[in-house]
Amino acid sequence: MSFKVAIVGATGNVGREMLNILEERGFPVSEVVALASRRSQGTEVSFGDRTLKVKSLDQYDFSDTDICIMSAGGNVSKEWSPKIGKQGCVVIDNSSAFRYDQDVPLIVPEVNPDAISLFTRKNIIANPNCSTAQLVVALKPLHDFATIKRVVVATYQSVSGAGKEGMDELFTQTRAVFVADQVDVKKFTKRIAFNVIPHIDVFLDDGFTKEEWKMVAETKKMLDPKIKLTATCVRVPVFIGHSEAVNIEFEKPITADEARDILREAPGCQVLDKREDGGYITPLESAGEDATFISRIREDSTIDNGLSMWIVSDNLRKGAALNAVQIAELLVERSLIQPKKKAA
Ligand SMILES: NC(=O)c1ccc[n+]([C@@H]2O[C@H](COP(=O)([O-])OP(=O)(O)OC[C@H]3O[C@@H](n4cnc5c(N)ncnc54)[C@H](OP(=O)(O)O)[C@@H]3O)[C@@H](O)[C@H]2O)c1
Repeated sequence: MSFKVAIVGATGNVGREMLNILEERGFPVSEVVALASRRSQGTEVSFGDRTLKVKSLDQYDFSDTDICIMSAGGNVSKEWSPKIGKQGCVVIDNSSAFRYDQDVPLIVPEVNPDAISLFTRKNIIANPNCSTAQLVVALKPLHDFATIKRVVVATYQSVSGAGKEGMDELFTQTRAVFVADQVDVKKFTKRIAFNVIPHIDVFLDDGFTKEEWKMVAETKKMLDPKIKLTATCVRVPVFIGHSEAVNIEFEKPITADEARDILREAPGCQVLDKREDGGYITPLESAGEDATFISRIREDSTIDNGLSMWIVSDNLRKGAALNAVQIAELLVERSLIQPKKKAA
């Protein structure tokens, strides 16, 4: 059994990674179609050792396509996902457009796979925000063991989380600093080269940013609505890999050793935690990897049942493309989808 899969946003950071991951994991495809805006029509992207010619989304007919992985931003998704879903093609959406819709499941396969069955309501499944995806992969097994009451998280998010333009801006500004050229600020609100910016997405009335709000709302939707979470989201001059300094308060006792043992066995997690120089993960090492890495696990004696830890993952993979492909795999494993065209 194999499926016709369309990637919308195939020329973008996440779209390209999706093509790589579909290939790497041997997802059963009968055909892969690369879609983007009219600007990219006719350009080429790689799928394994094949080259795909990019087609324009607004001229593509989805009626014989089985799965559409959308990665072209919220506005494109709001306009297109419902139409594509109505044509009987299951949409896996990377944007925030449908994440908080009661009729759209928000899925991290290691965390809440059973919620996927809801997808038939709109034929849309949402992929979480990159910072939330890696966080809940690590929180879930700890929550099952000791019940999380409250989480305080500060993120250190790479520029690739802001798309191709974000990566270009870090590169261009860094070069400009070295050659004493003028440093232009376009994509971010302040200079990102040799700096950090405590602001991602728009400001809300309560002073938090939308990125911070997303982490709260998505953790509640996927893991447990009773968990209290507060976040500070910060952009840092790293190309790929989001890092998080996390403090967790549990209802029941849990030691650092117990947490380490639980996380070692947990799906999607890899513990790298030696109390010595270099005995922890950094975002540079996480780039290109599938795991959510956990380091610096230690007890926080300032609260009852408290732990602190450092969580790092490749935001383009577990934070976006890998999770989306895992959702597609879950649809197939659970026989929730059948190819429209039967193999000859
Ligand atoms: N980067 C991350 O860490 C991350 C994590 C989770 C979720 N996401 C989400 O994934 C999406 C894409 O992110 P990205 O980092 O890949 O961005 P990106 O590198 O800027 O790529 C954007 C893609 O969207 C396409 N696109 C833009 N307007 C379009 C239109 N009107 N019709 C069809 N295609 C259009 C672009 O095509 P052209 O080349 O033709 O312009 C390009 O392929 C966003 O929704 C983002 O929020 C990103």
